[in-house]
Amino acid sequence: MKAIVLGAGKGTRMKSKKPKVLHPLLGKPMIWYVLSTLRQAGLEDIALVVGYGAEEVKKEVGDQVTYFFQENPAGGTADAVLSAIEFWRTYEGYILITNGDSPLVSPQTLRGIQRFIHMVEEYEKIKLSGVVLYASLPDPTGYGRVIFEEGSDRIVKIVEEKDATPQERGVNTVNAGVYVFWAPHLLEAIFKIKPSPVTGELYITDAVNILSEKGYEVRGFMASDPSEILGVNDRWDLAVAENLLRLKLIKYWAQRGVTFRNPETIWIEPDVDLSPEVEVRQGAVLKGKTKVEKGVLIGEGVVLENSTVEEGARILPYSVVESSTIKAGAIVGPFARLRNNTVVGESAEVGNFVEVKNSTLGKEVKAKHLSYIGDATVGDRVNVGAGVVFANFDGKKKYHTVVEEGAFIGSNSLLIAPIKVGKLAYIAGGSAVSKDVPEGTLAVERARLRIVKDKGKQKLL
Ligand code: UD1
Ligand code: CA
Repeated sequence: MKAIVLGAGKGTRMKSKKPKVLHPLLGKPMIWYVLSTLRQAGLEDIALVVGYGAEEVKKEVGDQVTYFFQENPAGGTADAVLSAIEFWRTYEGYILITNGDSPLVSPQTLRGIQRFIHMVEEYEKIKLSGVVLYASLPDPTGYGRVIFEEGSDRIVKIVEEKDATPQERGVNTVNAGVYVFWAPHLLEAIFKIKPSPVTGELYITDAVNILSEKGYEVRGFMASDPSEILGVNDRWDLAVAENLLRLKLIKYWAQRGVTFRNPETIWIEPDVDLSPEVEVRQGAVLKGKTKVEKGVLIGEGVVLENSTVEEGARILPYSVVESSTIKAGAIVGPFARLRNNTVVGESAEVGNFVEVKNSTLGKEVKAKHLSYIGDATVGDRVNVGAGVVFANFDGKKKYHTVVEEGAFIGSNSLLIAPIKVGKLAYIAGGSAVSKDVPEGTLAVERARLRIVKDKGKQKLL
């Protein structure tokens, strides 16, 4: 089966310059969901009709589809299908047509439609000309209404809301904007479609009406979950769709052994990969290609983006982790920030108000309070005291710091890169260190402490 995706419309109701199908849902453009659903349902030969913002759409989608250009992106959905006619004119098979703004349709539903066609042909010995995905909605406002032959799943016609009579508006079976047509029959019908007297557009739904009038068989296929058919027309639809997708992902992972506390507050994107026994607490944000291994705790308000968290690590509240790796058993936060390819070693601890950038911390390193560690390699079991700053920037260039295994960096000291602190060396608290410190030595750089006698007593005089 071939597929055509309609994505040429501007999406006027979005009130946006961005083509509608590029508006993101959980960090991915709407069209990404439509295309990945098609592929998951086994449809590989896909045409994408573009029009408004065509170049932008092509740039985003890449070469995984065949593009067709609709000259008049307000020509209507049948005009869009016509602009891809070279894709299907001589095709002797079924063709699936889907709106580009229906991101919630599931692969199971598309497979269901394919099975349905097969069953009807096999057991009823009928050639189906079309199948329309529909749902029964308590509030059908905004959708085309599907009118069935009484007591059957044969479709008589689809009427757009704008063209519907008051009686037709009362019908609550609605068109999802997903159809399968037998291509030769669609070809017979599509040139007979006339512009809507109300909008001047050519409606693909009229192909259904024409086929049915000719006595061809067009059937309805009901979506098992009515929320799947949501069409995104404005920003509120976008918010609703995003929320539904988010809950779907949370449910998927919950059923695979992940605990979510207060799931209505948790953000999760489709490329995130979780494991059993992970616990995600309220307000957590999981973005991009983030991978979380078994038994990890993700605390309240933690933000994880394009990062890996290995087995049993704990990320305490309000920590922000980007493009970094946290090794097994490490503890990060509360209020820690890791970025730019940072690696926190096994069972290491990075605590409150510590920022680590482009650095590798070894096993059991401790940096528990108020530090900046930038562009450094820190060996196993190094202790970084409170308030330590790795000064990596001289105003022009960034430099690297190496701190070897077991060294002790006293509180409030300053390591001025490039510099190397040897194994088991000590740096006395408050020192500004700009030379290498050899293995096993102590570095102190501090003005001598003076005690001035009776200074405080002067206040009494
Ligand atoms: C369409 C259906 C309606 C259905 C609803 C489901 C028609 C006439 N109506 O209405 O029955 O209930 O979807 O969501 O098809 N597009 C083009 N070129 C155009 C016009 C639209 O490519 O000239 C694309 C749009 O980018 C969009 C899709 O087709 O992805 C649907 O268009 P839209 O204008 O949103 O149709 P609806 O009014 O929602
Ligand atoms: Ca729509």
